Amino acid sequence: MNWLIQNIYTTGKVQDANGLDVDLADCIDPREGEFLTKIIHDNPQIKRTLEIGCAYGLSALHICSAVDGREGAAHTIIDPFQHTQWQGIGTANLTKAGFHNWELIEKRSEHALPELEAKDTASYDLVLIDGWHTFDHTLVDTFYATRLLKVGGILIVDDVNFPAVRSVINHLLTYPCYRQVGSVDRPRPLSRRQHLLRSVVSSIPKQKRELFLSSYVCQLVDAPGTQSLMVALKKVASDDRSWDWHEPFA
Ligand SMILES: C[S@@+](CC[C@H](N)C(=O)[O-])C[C@H]1O[C@@H](n2cnc3c(N)ncnc32)[C@H](O)[C@@H]1O
Repeated sequence: MNWLIQNIYTTGKVQDANGLDVDLADCIDPREGEFLTKIIHDNPQIKRTLEIGCAYGLSALHICSAVDGREGAAHTIIDPFQHTQWQGIGTANLTKAGFHNWELIEKRSEHALPELEAKDTASYDLVLIDGWHTFDHTLVDTFYATRLLKVGGILIVDDVNFPAVRSVINHLLTYPCYRQVGSVDRPRPLSRRQHLLRSVVSSIPKQKRELFLSSYVCQLVDAPGTQSLMVALKKVASDDRSWDWHEPFA
């Protein structure tokens, strides 16, 4: 792991321009960083990368570190608030770590992405989406990411445990051009109500449960399951859906 990434995760702090400590917030965690790094290491063709949402630069540090030394490697970052809310700490961290092959577009992704796509379609090997997490913003980001990715390129989306982001992933998984190639998962946390329901329902014999209760309730007992935090989708073909294409998604 890069020394600066290790230092930030160990201390839980980043430094501002005056060298003062600032609490780390809103970043990908070490498991997600490892996942991102492994995908890049396993795919030596990944050189041109794009990310939406930089904050204190943790995902950018992982990407720049993983592609370091690859000829032609270049990282594009879109974040409208890098020098306001985030005090320029994310990009300063890239410089501190010795990475220089990156550019920052300080605009909202909904403005920056159409501009990029107008001049540079199908040109990125990897796109990470970790910006504004509403359904519509994520959909706009993935709409342009799908156009900006080369065939064979990888789309990574963070915070898939957010219901709005999950819905967009469910939609993307219906596209013929996408295959899921990995995820970072965790056991699905149950709410207090779900815990209570689970303890009551688990005393009912399985056969009776299945006869009389909904599959949602049965699943709480039998397979509380996992949920994904980050997913990776591979663009395995060009996106040539017809104008009236639609597949239902959950
Ligand atoms: C969860 S943080 C990103 C964390 C970062 N990927 C990391 O691992 O350190 C979300 C980021 O999205 C940015 N953001 C908010 N609205 C945005 C928009 N409309 N377009 C692009 N980025 C946006 C925020 O400024 C913030 O840096």
